[in-house]
Amino acid sequence: MDSVREAQRALAVNFKVPSKSATESIQGKTLLVTGGASGFGEAIAAAFTNQPDTAAIIADRDAARGAALEQTLREAGRSVKFVQVDVTDWDSITNLFRSALVWLRETYKQDRTLDHIVTCAGVTSEALDLAPVQPDEFVNQKIESKPPTSRSIDISITGSLYTVTAAMRYGMGLHKAEEDASTRSDKSVTMLSSMAGYSGMRLQSDYTASKWGVRGLFRSLLDDNEANSSPVRFNLVAPYFVATPLTESWIPYLQKIGIKLADIGDVEGAALRFIGDKSIHGRAAGVWKGGAVDLGDDFGGGFGSDAMAEGIESDTIRQPTVWITKGRE
Ligand SMILES: NC(=O)c1ccc[n+]([C@@H]2O[C@H](COP(=O)([O-])OP(=O)(O)OC[C@H]3O[C@@H](n4cnc5c(N)ncnc54)[C@H](O)[C@@H]3O)[C@@H](O)[C@H]2O)c1
Repeated sequence: MDSVREAQRALAVNFKVPSKSATESIQGKTLLVTGGASGFGEAIAAAFTNQPDTAAIIADRDAARGAALEQTLREAGRSVKFVQVDVTDWDSITNLFRSALVWLRETYKQDRTLDHIVTCAGVTSEALDLAPVQPDEFVNQKIESKPPTSRSIDISITGSLYTVTAAMRYGMGLHKAEEDASTRSDKSVTMLSSMAGYSGMRLQSDYTASKWGVRGLFRSLLDDNEANSSPVRFNLVAPYFVATPLTESWIPYLQKIGIKLADIGDVEGAALRFIGDKSIHGRAAGVWKGGAVDLGDDFGGGFGSDAMAEGIESDTIRQPTVWITKGRE
């Protein structure tokens, strides 16, 4: 067993050493990024299309932001297409992949398919309403009962499941999978989880569960992938807090309590490394202030626990009220 652990540890990615070949292998490739109109998705789409002969489909629910980004990037000479999508709706997902393929055919006059998928669509959640109600009031139906929100679970888990399934079936040209591996185009999926997917986040149950769910999906897709002899590489990015529109309202509080925010450039860098480096498969990157770290989210790394313990002990991710649930006295 020790040799298995050692072998898995040896696969860890050193993000401190940049990979020129990863940048080069993005050239000529096509990306589809959900949640692509804002934050991480926007940064990844912009960095990807900065390489020659690349194309990107920006998929997002926010039509105004998506159209504005499409225009900005086109004015900068990039080949991009915005498609409005709600990732929780299968018909909307089907329309996304049809529109993406139609645009690629019309634009490139050839059988160009999607090479790389990044799933960034996400929202934060509301605190659960756990205020107890008098049984009498409930039994006599004097109060209106309402379900807790599960929007984050819907978007991050169902949305990622729908996106990846549709990409592999319809979008990535995988019917050519039996071709010689040396001539086959490299294909990858990069999924966005969060540090909340490795720990907990107070008053964000829906969000926390959704990010653990993305990790579960990542892990099971690795196995499914192997069972199907699929050539697609799967990796995961799990950032700590980063200033984006998602966290905008939290930032003043986070800064007040001394949280060191991670940099969006390091999230973008980790995603681009996963997209471009053909040798990386099955790895998860944590992103803290100071850069990306391979979390060892496998048997070799104790499924991320060693890296998490190190991060918490070295105060990189200090936030006791968020991370530590006290025992009952
Ligand atoms: N910012 C952080 O601190 C942080 C940390 C860890 C993980 N994450 C995760 O990274 C991902 C991107 O976050 P961000 O900070 O860039 O947020 P963001 O709000 O800037 O971008 C998220 C995008 O997802 C889109 N979206 C939401 N619901 C959608 C739906 N149903 N269908 C299609 N698009 C939808 C939004 O319109 C938005 O453009 C999210 O999954 C988030 O949970 C963020």
